[in-house]
Amino acid sequence: MNAPPGVPPPLRIGGVTIDPPLLLAPMAGVTDHHFRLIVRRIGGVGLVSMEFLPAAAMVRGIEPVLRKLHFTDEERPLAIQIYGRDPEEMRRSAAIVERLRPDVCDINMGCPANKILKNCAGAALMGDLPRAARMIALCRRELTIPLTVKFRLGTGRTGEPLNYLELGRICEDLGVDAVTMHARTAKQMYRGRAAWEHLARLKQALRIPVIGNGDVRTPDDALRMFAETGVDGVMIGRAVLTDPFVFRRTAAALAGRHVAEPTPAERLELIRTHFRWILRDEPPRLALHKLRSFLGRYTHGLPEGRALRRRISELDAPEQFLPALEQHLLAHAASGR
Ligand SMILES: Cc1cc2nc3c(=O)[nH]c(=O)nc-3n(C[C@H](O)[C@H](O)[C@H](O)COP(=O)(O)O)c2cc1C
Repeated sequence: MNAPPGVPPPLRIGGVTIDPPLLLAPMAGVTDHHFRLIVRRIGGVGLVSMEFLPAAAMVRGIEPVLRKLHFTDEERPLAIQIYGRDPEEMRRSAAIVERLRPDVCDINMGCPANKILKNCAGAALMGDLPRAARMIALCRRELTIPLTVKFRLGTGRTGEPLNYLELGRICEDLGVDAVTMHARTAKQMYRGRAAWEHLARLKQALRIPVIGNGDVRTPDDALRMFAETGVDGVMIGRAVLTDPFVFRRTAAALAGRHVAEPTPAERLELIRTHFRWILRDEPPRLALHKLRSFLGRYTHGLPEGRALRRRISELDAPEQFLPALEQHLLAHAASGR
């Protein structure tokens, strides 16, 4: 079957081909090495991204942050995202990224968290475009790999108009290879709906590729975002948390194919693999935290998922998780529920 009309070709960011043009959003506390690999192995994703990493800690060599920079070739194409307030510090962290040679370096200008905004980083840079421009120019000079910038519609603060078109043009003029826009203001955080009409406007204003982001939960949403806005790529975030198979179904929909839903056995195998990696690689306290949060999300839609989540919230040793999960699944398979 042919791809439906209106579906864009593979996305090119600098010299890197992103095929299909579907991107895993950077998500702090979620898109670590293990999760990126899980999403990659399921398939259908064109580019995966690390969670944002603080430039200040990178240039000071803070160990837990340096550890987060680990990736393997199986994850490629892969973006490393950096954030900070000081253009010079950002330049130095871009130099570190360049040496690691991921496929893309991404600058975060969209984070709305108060802790980040107070420090004049993330979306606060949309309130100080001269500083944003200095930062982009310095990072660009450090990098031979493609550079992208991820931002929002604007700060949303009173008296500050939406300025994404201005920031988009600055990016283009300074040699940025593509931009991603989450179609909300920083003030909105995640409230309201993403205003996709602004994605269409940004796409019309720029020659470099535009990646659209915000409220894509299903393959149909992704097709609609491509068709309604003309964006070159679609980035998906929160939907992947409970449904890591969403990329596989969306890629199939883009190609005009249908794929079967994952079987319960496939879901279980995925959870088992992820858990084994966490138990192997993480210190016990962090392992416990990660097992709880990932299992909490993965069990959405499983039979009696709520009872299982209650049970795992009571576990206090990482090695108890897999047996608890397996017992639960066995019990519900046996009772036919
Ligand atoms: C738990 C969580 C962590 C996030 N961390 C980051 C981050 O590190 N860098 C970033 O640019 N955006 C981050 N975001 C925003 C997402 O990348 C994305 O822009 C946003 O969730 C909107 O897309 P969605 O509607 O598909 O979720 C985060 C979002 C969530 C839910």
